[in-house]
Amino acid sequence: VKRISIPQIRNRKGAEPLVCLTAYTTQMARRLDPHVDLLLVGDSLGMVVYGFDSTLPVTLDMMIAHGAAVMRGAEHACVIVDLPFGSYQESPEQAFRSAARIMAETGASGVKLEGGAEMAETVRFLTQRCIPVCGHVGLMPQAVNVAGGFKATGRSEEEARQVMRDAQAVAEAGAFAVVLEGTLEPVAAEITAALPVPTIGIGASAACDGQILVSEDVFGLFSDFTPRFVKRYADLGGQISQAAEAYAQDVRARRFPGREHCFLPKGASRTGS
Ligand code: KIV
Ligand code: NA
Repeated sequence: VKRISIPQIRNRKGAEPLVCLTAYTTQMARRLDPHVDLLLVGDSLGMVVYGFDSTLPVTLDMMIAHGAAVMRGAEHACVIVDLPFGSYQESPEQAFRSAARIMAETGASGVKLEGGAEMAETVRFLTQRCIPVCGHVGLMPQAVNVAGGFKATGRSEEEARQVMRDAQAVAEAGAFAVVLEGTLEPVAAEITAALPVPTIGIGASAACDGQILVSEDVFGLFSDFTPRFVKRYADLGGQISQAAEAYAQDVRARRFPGREHCFLPKGASRTGS
């Protein structure tokens, strides 16, 4: 199997929608890999896997560990890893050092970073030095403290212009795609029409060139809160609860383990008692 490349992702602009999901582990990556074009190792893992109430405590070492795990489970999808808060905002040089570690230690095809015009120089610095960058504008979870919460953007004329400016700035700086999060439909449509590279929407309408969601939201494995843009395709969390309850009942009633689960002496019967 040949892995989908960054140029192939970029060339999907205006063509078939890009199918993207997050993954943090080898097993999840293995399940999703045949069905998606791109797997994002998102810093959302801070909230989904580690139970933090924002993505800010996520470290570069965490992203590298999970990025490498996902790469061990994915052979077809293009794998991108988020640069976590504090690992890239200081300078293009700091961003390069962090991104180079991700590339070298995970084998992923590129990185994603949050930010608009103020990050354009950094996006250019990385892309000119062999590190593909995916942009991320609109609702930026790492900016939760300046934004005062996780809120959709593009409601006012001024906000709409700001998101457009940000998307154009990172695309012009060389981003191969731009994630558009929590952005009103008409704004997302206008940005998608204006950019030469694919927009990947999350809470940004079907007007985008692709879609991404957090897998745990899609499969019902994370319910601390569910944003309105999530569509739940399964209730695996509910199934886990039921399975745990059944296991507990079996152990308490000594129904588990059965003879079929036991190492028995030679000649002993598995069916007899
Ligand atoms: O961290 C993440 O999962 C993300 C996306 C959902 C785009 O950045
Ligand atoms: Na992220």
